[in-house]
Amino acid sequence: MSTTRSDGGPGTGRHSSGARAPHPAETPNPAQVTEADLDAMSQEQLARLAANLDDVEVVHNANPWPIPGTRAEKRAARSVALWFLISAVCGLAFLVAFLAWPHEYRAPGDPGYVMYALYTPVIGTTLGLGILALGVAVIQYVKKFFPEEVSIQQRHGGPSDEVARRTVIAQLQQAGKDTGIGRRGMILGTAGLATGVFAVGLGVAAVAPLVRNPWKGGPDAALWHSGWRPVNGETVYLRYDTGDPSEIVLVRPEDQEPGSMMTVFPFRESERGNEEALLNALRRSDNPTMLIRFRPGTVFVPAPGHEGLNYGDYVAYSKVCTHLGCPASLFESQTNRILCPCHQSQFVATEHARPVFGPAARPLPQLPITVNDAGYLVATGDFDGPVGPAFWEMGKI
Ligand code: FES
Repeated sequence: MSTTRSDGGPGTGRHSSGARAPHPAETPNPAQVTEADLDAMSQEQLARLAANLDDVEVVHNANPWPIPGTRAEKRAARSVALWFLISAVCGLAFLVAFLAWPHEYRAPGDPGYVMYALYTPVIGTTLGLGILALGVAVIQYVKKFFPEEVSIQQRHGGPSDEVARRTVIAQLQQAGKDTGIGRRGMILGTAGLATGVFAVGLGVAAVAPLVRNPWKGGPDAALWHSGWRPVNGETVYLRYDTGDPSEIVLVRPEDQEPGSMMTVFPFRESERGNEEALLNALRRSDNPTMLIRFRPGTVFVPAPGHEGLNYGDYVAYSKVCTHLGCPASLFESQTNRILCPCHQSQFVATEHARPVFGPAARPLPQLPITVNDAGYLVATGDFDGPVGPAFWEMGKI
């Protein structure tokens, strides 16, 4: 259906020469319609009256299926229904994958890693295909079953009156009737199935994050720990990333200039030669840590109850901003401030990374460090607070 607007002024209805006028002359005159007339009119008459009220003149209206029930019409209906069905199947697949696919984090090389890695692609693909198929189905329905209509509408303003309101509803109902939707059970059924599945899917997707419990597992829950967590008493070294995961460069205090910062990652001797484990240590999102060496004479103020986490002029903080998780890795050595470029949060490095500017409300978690007998910097434990955004609303101070 298409409607063309004209500036010809109200009441200037006209027929294109030679075009078929689909609505007969008995269409009621809007100015003479009474409430009794409205009650007596058929839906089709009300729809025509609505067009008249809007100064709409239908100059062409052709039913694509003038003879109901032909094989071609049934074929067209099956084609539309098939797209709705594909949409419903994809929606169901999305729902099942969203709820049942293994989504718990698995490191590369761990059992179940492939399934974990496929979680996002699978739910993305099924949801995308489902929406695409739904769109194709709607477009197909409009193209195949809507009457080919050309109308001219005159411009006019002002609010709608009672007659207009009632007739518009009738017009909409008539439009549905014209497409024969009432007798197309297969399309109605599959369309209902597809939209129903998506409605349920979207509802589940909206509620699911509120249902899943990130604290499942208690103190051992993954969200409590980073890759710096000591395991079986094995020494966790501070490692510099050269870009080659298999090249192990451990950090000594003398490797760093005063007033500078470097990014370090955890390394255990048991990981040497294990490419997957080495790569995982570099890629795990809560592992990146900034090692800062203050200039001589700088006074470090630890958080109350968190003393002894620094090694002299050396401190180590998580690089993950406690606001929204950006890498907060800009160190300004003159002011000893750490800056997050995303929303300009600033943390005072000499005061246990206390936030002093911007939206971050929690200090950056600090990693306890020392130097071992061999002269290497090592971590003596995990971070002193949860790594990441401030919605945790917990941790130190
Ligand atoms: S993520 Fe760092 S300030 Fe917003």
